[in-house]
Amino acid sequence: MRSNYPFNCWYVAATSVEVGQGLLARRLLDRPVVLYRRSSGDVVAMEDRCVHRAYPLSAGRRDGDRLVCGYHGFAYEPDGCLVDVPSQENVPPGARVRSYPVHEQPPFVWIWLGDPGVAALRPPPRVPWYADGTGWGSTIEVLRVEANYLLLHEHYLDLTDVFVMHPEAVPPDIEVLPPLDEVEVSERSVSYGRVTPPSRLAGWEAQVTGLPAETVGIRREEGTFVSPGLHVQHYVIDSEDRRAYELLRIQGFTPESPAATHVFLQMARNYATEDDHVAEFLRAMFGDWALRDSAVLASIQRRLGEEAVPRRDINVKADRAAVRARRIAMEMVDEETGRFALNRILATS
Ligand code: FES
Repeated sequence: MRSNYPFNCWYVAATSVEVGQGLLARRLLDRPVVLYRRSSGDVVAMEDRCVHRAYPLSAGRRDGDRLVCGYHGFAYEPDGCLVDVPSQENVPPGARVRSYPVHEQPPFVWIWLGDPGVAALRPPPRVPWYADGTGWGSTIEVLRVEANYLLLHEHYLDLTDVFVMHPEAVPPDIEVLPPLDEVEVSERSVSYGRVTPPSRLAGWEAQVTGLPAETVGIRREEGTFVSPGLHVQHYVIDSEDRRAYELLRIQGFTPESPAATHVFLQMARNYATEDDHVAEFLRAMFGDWALRDSAVLASIQRRLGEEAVPRRDINVKADRAAVRARRIAMEMVDEETGRFALNRILATS
């Protein structure tokens, strides 16, 4: 299967907690990567393949800030330079593994696997809840879905599946989801918004906010495809008590391969911020929903994999944001491969 993700893009490689003194092996954009923390605390990301033979460096060991291969003991500096070959005095000139730009913005560690010269020009997306948790309680999850990353983006840009897949999530007085109020498109992002009519609270809403189930509120829902590597959903209950109960799902989608995706999920809320029971309830509930979503997306991925010739899906109005997001991602891919310029020339000739 051909890859459909841009390399010139920041993706989440790991959560801050996952990267420590040990060696973390992870496949990202179909490349083997090893991550660790230097003694200064900075995160290092390198190609997980020794230059001598193809032994994974993640199976080796640390020697201070250096990484030592577990087969014949070649040693590498954090910038990827080979600096020691135990069986001889000199090292082959210029020998190195690739090291990758990383940027830590807790709770996530971002990585750039594309052209290193472009990385500095495009800083990782900033989401204010990353840097400053003041006034917010949050939980972090790492999941893996056996589906292409665009299937995940599309899934979260069209929430009309909720009535079918997660009916218990829908407030009791809502029978149809209103259409998207707006779909805003910039060069690299897509946002949608929707406001639902007044309704009593769904069971889970009452449970996490602590409000009586008879409370009536409207929901403001926004979702943004920030980049191919990041999707942010904002769910707000404006209740009778004039308070806005906000829930954010910040999801890093990082292709493991064309057919599998790492999901780094931060859920942040501005209510019950210190309440561990609420945190656990939300974690378990969204975890259960994620399992159902994953199973569906994996089934679609398998079916797509069976098709010798790709077929064209039919789109409906609810797919508006998803279609835009796919187009942006594919334009970024085409731009990298030079096809974008060619398509422009063909379109204007
Ligand atoms: S394979 Fe790494 S040192 Fe030989």
